[in-house]
Amino acid sequence: MKRTIRDIENWQGRRALVREDLNVPMDDNGNITDATRIQEAVPTLRYLVKQNARVIVMAHFGRPKGQKKSEFSLAPVAKRLQELMPDVTVKTTQDTFSPEVVMAMDGLKNGEILVLENTRFDPGEEANSPEFAKKLASLADVYVNDAFGAAHRAHASTEGVAHFVQEKVAGLLMEKEIEALSGLLKTPERPFAAIIGGSKVSTKFSVLESLLDKVDHLVIGGGMMFTFLKAQGFSVGKSLVEDDFLDQARALMEKAKQKGVNLVLPSDVVIADKFDADAQSLVVDIHAIPEGWMGLDIGPESMDAIQQVLGESRTVFWNGPLGVFEFPAFAKGTDYVARFLAMQTKENGCKTVLGGGDTVAALDVFHIPPEAYTHVSTGGGASMEFIEGKELPGIAVLEDAPIKV
Ligand code: 3PG
Repeated sequence: MKRTIRDIENWQGRRALVREDLNVPMDDNGNITDATRIQEAVPTLRYLVKQNARVIVMAHFGRPKGQKKSEFSLAPVAKRLQELMPDVTVKTTQDTFSPEVVMAMDGLKNGEILVLENTRFDPGEEANSPEFAKKLASLADVYVNDAFGAAHRAHASTEGVAHFVQEKVAGLLMEKEIEALSGLLKTPERPFAAIIGGSKVSTKFSVLESLLDKVDHLVIGGGMMFTFLKAQGFSVGKSLVEDDFLDQARALMEKAKQKGVNLVLPSDVVIADKFDADAQSLVVDIHAIPEGWMGLDIGPESMDAIQQVLGESRTVFWNGPLGVFEFPAFAKGTDYVARFLAMQTKENGCKTVLGGGDTVAALDVFHIPPEAYTHVSTGGGASMEFIEGKELPGIAVLEDAPIKV
């Protein structure tokens, strides 16, 4: 485990440089469409404010590629943070680092928060330049990394900065994420099932492979299922397929057999005549996908099979929707699994851990609160890499917790 903000005895007047992941979805009019990541940053910030620290927050927003672009400003995010913490003074800066930022920091009182402008406005951020990292470090007495969702990036604000600050600790969100996800890797109560969906197998192949060493059941849904179905010799019509991955899909199915993992692929699908919310739709067996049609969801028979597997599982990890949940006609598979898992959590004490931006967005569409599950990760790529067993640079760089005797 890592040392956390709670392990530091005296915060009074000290400068806490806190990296948060405030990369929230925003619509074309600049409205935040899901503030979960901002809300999840609050416990750490509130703790530091209560301890009378001087809190400097840094975060990235979007991918401005080292250029200062107004549409990527963190100002709306800082505004929302202020609304969530109305009793605290939240100040902002126009730059990530400049003489003005240093002045603003000097003027910051104990218990106040200063939000720096988007770290990715500086090319030194993604290049993890030591010069930029040193500048950021000059703002800190203690570096706090709370940005689990960006911990797989070795950038100046997530990794480099820590090399120039003596004390570097995890925030409360980071701690919660590490505990929930490492619980899956170390001591999952069995049977342990993983459900992996989403459109592309190429982006999730390595996590699928590594899950074969961990789980009892591996359920595959979403667009990626068609690469597996085609690899088994089925005609999949116009469904999404990554032909480059057919051999690998076959190898993965073979490996699952060797390892005794129950690989669950759909037996029926909902097909559409075009990729559209108003498309004509039909439920067909996977043997019967007609030419010119595409699969956009799993069918009812597949839902029953998945329910059976999940019903007997004590631990479930879920990443990626099972169909095109944005279109109501093709959202049933994802909706069904989301509700069944929520019920399993509440009524049967099943441990359910969810991750990935699309999975979280689906919960929002179905109006299911994250509290319905054991843990909903704020990390997309980060949670996948963590589950794969990779060491995330933003975590590796933090101090280890002292061993308790
Ligand atoms: C995310 O949204 O997954 C994190 O904030 C990381 O963002 P990135 O993929 O642009 O590095």
